[in-house]
Amino acid sequence: TCAINIIDDINVYFPFIKCMEAKDTMPDKAAEKCANAMKIDLAPIMSCANSDKGNLLEHEMALKTEALRPNQTYVPWITINGVHTEKMQDMAQKDLLSLICDTYK
Ligand SMILES: *[C@@H]1O[C@H](CO)[C@@H](O)[C@H](O)[C@H]1NC(C)=O
Repeated sequence: TCAINIIDDINVYFPFIKCMEAKDTMPDKAAEKCANAMKIDLAPIMSCANSDKGNLLEHEMALKTEALRPNQTYVPWITINGVHTEKMQDMAQKDLLSLICDTYK
C-alpha cells in the first residue's frame, strides 16, 4: 500500500509489487531486491511501511476487501465495474482483452 501511495504510477508500482510477490523471501528483502533491480527509491516506502500512515493505508485496503460482495474467497479476486462473478473471473483468466472490450464503459 505504501508503494502504491508513494510511487503513484501504476506502470511502476504494479511491476514492483509483481516482482515482490515473485520473490521467495520475506517482504523486506523482496522490496530491497526489487527496488534495486527497478531503480526505485525504497527509503520513503519503508519509512511509510513502518509508520502509522502505512498502517492506515493497509487498513483502508482491508476495508475495501471486507466490503466486497460476494465476499472474497481467493486471489486474485477480479472485479469489473465493481462487480465480481465466476463467469467474469473465468474470462479474465482466459481472455482478459476480450473481457475488457466487452465490459468497457
Ligand atoms: C461476508 O462477509 C461479511 C463481513 O465480513 C460477513 O458478515 C458475512 O457473513 C459474509 N457472508 C458470507 C456469505 O459468508
